[in-house]
Amino acid sequence: MKVLGIESSCDETGVAIIDESGKILSERLYSQIELHAEYGGVVPELASRDHIRKITPLLKETLEQANLGLDELDAIAYTAGPGLVGALFVGASVGQSIAWSLDIPSIPVHHMEAHLLVPFLDQDTGLCFPFLCLLVSGGHTMIVQANALGDYQVLGQSRDDAVGEAFDKVAKQLDLGYPGGPAIEKLAKQSLSNRDDFPRPMKDHPSLDFSFSGLKTHTLLEYKKTKQTDEEKADIAYAFQQAVTDTLFFKCQKAIEQTGLDTLVVAGGVSANRGLREKFKQLAHANVIFPEMKLCTDNGVMIAYAGLQYALAGKFAGTNEIKVYPRWSLQQ
Ligand code: KG4
Ligand code: ZN
Repeated sequence: MKVLGIESSCDETGVAIIDESGKILSERLYSQIELHAEYGGVVPELASRDHIRKITPLLKETLEQANLGLDELDAIAYTAGPGLVGALFVGASVGQSIAWSLDIPSIPVHHMEAHLLVPFLDQDTGLCFPFLCLLVSGGHTMIVQANALGDYQVLGQSRDDAVGEAFDKVAKQLDLGYPGGPAIEKLAKQSLSNRDDFPRPMKDHPSLDFSFSGLKTHTLLEYKKTKQTDEEKADIAYAFQQAVTDTLFFKCQKAIEQTGLDTLVVAGGVSANRGLREKFKQLAHANVIFPEMKLCTDNGVMIAYAGLQYALAGKFAGTNEIKVYPRWSLQQ
């Protein structure tokens, strides 16, 4: 079985083909970072237009790289949500149209579920259900209990900004450009003082929920108090990153204690942060699994893989309409 996956929910156009063993036959990824950088964030209409420009060439390249013809595909998976409505429609329209023309199944994929499932690709991890998952991306921050394919319980989530969003906004305040996460990580590494006096939001709250909006404001206010030299900027980036990773760490530890589950997957764009990866090595009573670096941020492989799992389980319904779900709960 060969499954083609298409990702177009935000600012990356990703296309990949995998076979039933999970082997990646080919993958292509185009990032729109340069397009959005001058605006300091993703401009939805520009994103949609760029997906339209890039998706067909990427599809062709992906098929060529795998030495496959369209008629050799067995299913098409595409991100149906959550994400930007126009951007999602590009992948959904292309995916559905190819599936209809070839008379093969199309599989709408939940973007966050694809992030959550992608560590299964590395069979050395021994990952199996049930497990806990910390999902940290530009749009979502959640602790999820993953019971089985398609069976997820959200135990806690952000009440305001997602972690990635907070990284991006703080980076904008510090004039570090877009996307903010990698820029803050790089700058934090240059901190000499290792300043670590920022608050850990909702740490003492009994829930597993998060809040990062106040921390973002705190960071800006603290930055304004400094002379805004390069050294001080690095210290602010470090203090912010420490506060975020520590808060995530603390809530995950609590989730492990509450559920008794001993495996934690950390996935989504922010899971690429090396400070976070280092911190989570200290997590007691749990095996922590991260996706390989290039699969942390958005890509077509994770969509193809999630689609493959649904295809193998026979869990998909054919559809005769092109539908996307910009807001889509993982529990639905
Ligand atoms: O999963 P993703 O690629 O797209 C969404 O589904 O949103 O995540 C993108 C987010 C952005 O906010 C970006 O700043 C953040 O992940 N990110 C990072 C790092 N790399 C990407 N945040 C912190 N450290 C990083 N190294
Ligand atoms: Zn994502």
